[in-house]
Amino acid sequence: MGLRIRLRRAVLNMTTESVDGAHIATLLCSVDDVCGGRPKRVELKEHGPVAVFRLNGTFYTIDDTCTHAQASLAEGEVEGDIVICPAHFGRFHVPTGKAITFPVTQDLGIYATFVRDGHVFAQLPCARSRRASSELP
Ligand code: FES
Repeated sequence: MGLRIRLRRAVLNMTTESVDGAHIATLLCSVDDVCGGRPKRVELKEHGPVAVFRLNGTFYTIDDTCTHAQASLAEGEVEGDIVICPAHFGRFHVPTGKAITFPVTQDLGIYATFVRDGHVFAQLPCARSRRASSELP
């Protein structure tokens, strides 16, 4: 049947858990929050901020903080599938998180992203996220 998600609360940015228990699926935002080519920055406790991108109808979640010097990539320009850091213009490939233009040399974290019922979720490693309590069926 695929991934089954159980929502813990009816508000955004809360933690849910996948059936296999290997990853936490975190509700990041509404699909409508990511429009007009602009990424959405989402603050996550115990993980740090992520940026949600919508490129040609596909959603991607990457770490929001530039690996060079802490700028928010959600504030950068988007050209195709590239985001340009607003601080020093380093470039990252959004789908892979690859650093492609100096001064960035370290890749970004990327997270499996999916949409359910008009909301965007990302699967974050358990070790870096708050575990859901034992509410699974
Ligand atoms: S902070 Fe992003 S390129 Fe320097």
